Amino acid sequence: MSAYFKDKVVVVTGGTDGIGKALVDDLLQAGAKVATCGRDHDKLYRLQATYPSYHLHTMVADVSNENEARRLIESTIRNFGKVDILINNAGISMRALLKDASTEVIRRVMDINFFGAVYCTKYALESIIENKGTIVGVSSIAGYRGLPGRSAYSASKYALQGWLEAIKTELMDSKVHVMWVCPGFTTSNIRTAALDKDAQSHGETNMDEGKMMSAEEVSGHILKAISKKKRTLVLTFQGKETVFLNKFFPKLADWFTHRFYFKNGELVK
Ligand SMILES: NC(=O)c1ccc[n+]([C@@H]2O[C@H](COP(=O)([O-])OP(=O)(O)OC[C@H]3O[C@@H](n4cnc5c(N)ncnc54)[C@H](OP(=O)(O)O)[C@@H]3O)[C@@H](O)[C@H]2O)c1
Repeated sequence: MSAYFKDKVVVVTGGTDGIGKALVDDLLQAGAKVATCGRDHDKLYRLQATYPSYHLHTMVADVSNENEARRLIESTIRNFGKVDILINNAGISMRALLKDASTEVIRRVMDINFFGAVYCTKYALESIIENKGTIVGVSSIAGYRGLPGRSAYSASKYALQGWLEAIKTELMDSKVHVMWVCPGFTTSNIRTAALDKDAQSHGETNMDEGKMMSAEEVSGHILKAISKKKRTLVLTFQGKETVFLNKFFPKLADWFTHRFYFKNGELVK
């Protein structure tokens, strides 16, 4: 696997935490030239300081801002000459029932998780086509099964997958590889960073992070799937089970999902 990424230019959005950070670590170790972004300057500075002698380009950029997404891609091409692989990983979640949530929460989650991927892909596309490269969307099991309290998150991942499937078909003749990956529960910062009903980070979770797949393991699966040019990747037993159940027994999936996400009538956060 590591030989596959040697000298490839890879953009990973949201590379300062969780799955994105694990991808950046693995790709640099594998000899890739890596560009990444996040909204927090200090986290990017720490990442850059960890890899002084590696090919790492970092930039403060919010992918939901079209100009910042364009500048991330343009500066990557200026620094490294091209883009071979784009991993649209940056994402946030939410915790609020529709009756309580401001529409701003829904817009914000769609702007980052869906439009962020659209902007980065649009500006990298010419170079990816020239290099017969790869476009990846980091989706979720929520891209196959809508989840209560995470309605905008689910919508953003369904949108991402439908959009990637469409462009995959558009790009078939150009030999560009398009793939979406759906991690199950993964230990990361996503639950504490999730937006509450007022679009503020709610900063707490009552789920057990210790029982989840590690971000490092998810990164390993994603990189292997890229090197093997897989179409999709669904991770964890629980994740595969949910996708299967929702496809063939949707009413049962409604019941199980409700039971899992509401405890004593309260939404699980
Ligand atoms: N963890 C899970 O259980 C899980 C399961 C399925 C799918 N996923 C998906 O995996 C991806 C990564 O999530 P994670 O769990 O690793 O989350 P995480 O630990 O919260 O990391 C998210 C990363 O994205 C960056 N980011 C967030 N919003 C951004 C924006 N607007 N512009 C640029 N960067 C932004 C964050 O940095 P800043 O905050 O500094 O910007 C951070 O580096 C997401 O797409 C998520 O939906 C996660």
